[in-house]
Amino acid sequence: MTDDDRALPFHLRGNYAPVFDELTETELTVSGQLPVELTGLYVRNGANPHTGTSPHWFAGDGMLHGVRLDAGKASWYRNRWVQTKQLAEPRARQIGSDGSVDRTVGVNNTHVVRHAGKILTLVESSFPCEMSPELDTIGVYDFDGHLDTAMTAHPKICPTTGEMHFFGYGFFPPYLTYHRVSAGGDLVQSEVIDVAGPTMIHDFSITEHHVLFMDLPVVFDLDLAMKGGMPYRWDDDYEARIGVMARGGSGGDVQWFAIDPCYVFHPMNSFERTSPSGATSIVFDTARYPDLWRADSAKFNNDATLHRWTLDLTKGTVSEEPLDDRLIEFPRVNDDLVGLTNRYGYAVANRPVADGPPRSELVKYDLETGHSTAHDFGTTQIPGEAVFVPADAETVRDTAREDAGWLMGFIYDKPTDTSSLVVLDASDIAADPVASVTLPRRVPFGFHGSWMPD
Ligand SMILES: [Fe+2]
Repeated sequence: MTDDDRALPFHLRGNYAPVFDELTETELTVSGQLPVELTGLYVRNGANPHTGTSPHWFAGDGMLHGVRLDAGKASWYRNRWVQTKQLAEPRARQIGSDGSVDRTVGVNNTHVVRHAGKILTLVESSFPCEMSPELDTIGVYDFDGHLDTAMTAHPKICPTTGEMHFFGYGFFPPYLTYHRVSAGGDLVQSEVIDVAGPTMIHDFSITEHHVLFMDLPVVFDLDLAMKGGMPYRWDDDYEARIGVMARGGSGGDVQWFAIDPCYVFHPMNSFERTSPSGATSIVFDTARYPDLWRADSAKFNNDATLHRWTLDLTKGTVSEEPLDDRLIEFPRVNDDLVGLTNRYGYAVANRPVADGPPRSELVKYDLETGHSTAHDFGTTQIPGEAVFVPADAETVRDTAREDAGWLMGFIYDKPTDTSSLVVLDASDIAADPVASVTLPRRVPFGFHGSWMPD
């Protein structure tokens, strides 16, 4: 690292720094053996500022990195910017001088999902942007004109009904709106959810019959917005709550549960439990921060841990308990178990080491036994979010075989300044990788991705 580099904020240095070319590579080296069951696209989104600079990690232009797998072969790697209006016109502003809001302006850098046959890049300030399976930009997508709020980057697709549930939040009323999209892709319901003020709501969760909102004390601050940085900060006076609404219910029928103050970017999962007497509770596991952006909105805390809330819908009470003391982020479960009882969950962990760099791990939690195991990447390899890919979609709801499948994600190797797509056996996570695809370039640290099988 040069002295010049040290003067840069973290999100523009090292492997956070953007790359400036769009590659297509069909000659890829694979070590190990890619499972023949894997045919599809792994694709991940992240911030990659086109101009080389951005005021915050979250503000860079979206870039997809994708690897196409075909029955044991790695067919290609591609990286492509999401061709947003903001990329073409860096001066484009979402909020006009007359106060109007243009949600076609956004960086679309946070997640990429597929629903009803459409691949959508997402950022929580704006409309989605549709992409082709070759990662070319098709254009802004607003559900045929029916979406009138921003869309979270973390919609939840129900594995049972195929419906997509999501929300939009914003600085101006209505601060929070819930949306439901049919399995066929039609926006069929929008409900305003009453909250006390504008807060940053990054993600949410579903269960078989409910959706869950997190109304947490990281609030919009106009003074910070005027300075051009991240316009949110911690507020000790804002009550932390979780809201539970029946799927398809009305925005006026949300049951709220007050919780200890905290912040959550990412839930792991939530699911319902019914007692022998018929009472329903919801188990809600998240990567929970004790607080966030209390004094300096630009500073990143790195102290989220796995935390469980149990919401008793009959009594209206909530209990909470830490499940682990590891520092984690990017929690995921098998996408086929979103909203359903999951035995296993996965997360990236950072293990501090005295007098040295932290060790990076990919942790597998067994929530039934309380045990966990991990793949240790050591101090020089750094994994991003890992996506679970089931070996057989028919067996995933069998808790004895729920982990039959693979974990897939990008790894950055610091000494060689290179990246690879690594595939681990989820049932034996500590073992050497099943396969590793060497990529033709480093992949900057990013946010979220998906496996999209053919
Ligand atoms: Fe996220």
